[in-house]
Amino acid sequence: MSLLDDVEKTLISQVAIEERIAQLGAEMNAVYTDNDLPLLVCILRGAFIFMADLTRHLAFRHEVDFMVISSYGKGTTSTGVVRILLDLAANIEGRHVVIVEDIVDTGHTLSYILRNFKARNPASLRVATLLSKPSRREIEVPVDFVGFEVPNEFVIGYGLDFVEQYRNLPFIGVLKPEVYQSQV
Ligand code: PRP
Repeated sequence: MSLLDDVEKTLISQVAIEERIAQLGAEMNAVYTDNDLPLLVCILRGAFIFMADLTRHLAFRHEVDFMVISSYGKGTTSTGVVRILLDLAANIEGRHVVIVEDIVDTGHTLSYILRNFKARNPASLRVATLLSKPSRREIEVPVDFVGFEVPNEFVIGYGLDFVEQYRNLPFIGVLKPEVYQSQV
């Protein structure tokens, strides 16, 4: 069985993602200058593909860093309990920081990261996310740059996984229910 056999439908095509990320890059180019030298923080693992594409649309000087975050007990839903598995290499005190996420779902992960980062006294803190699922929000979180709002469906691809797989699909798809129902 191919990976594609597990996909019910394409929600956002590869072309639509490429176009939207170029627009997000333009939005960010209107905000930051070389002097700001922002630090883009990719929240691994899901955001690795979005980050790689977004950074190549940015015209201002910037740096990148990475953080590995994990939620406990995560099947198809988030528990709100967050762990830092790998912290930033950079000191963000006095820096302009952009958190780069693949998806904001309940908001608990981002809420935790924002609290954690604010305690380190950055000069500014903004959030870019490829996807947002507003209907699932349990905690209000500010998001500055949003690629797409998506309905409450099990989305995979373009970095988003189910059981660590499907991240390599070049589009955002919806997973067939029988795939996750048979495994959780
Ligand atoms: C995903 C995603 C966000 C979080 C969003 O991470 O990358 O960090 O869930 O969910 P929330 O808004 O309900 O907190 P996940 O824990 O699946 O890890 P991954 O990035 O390695 O896929």
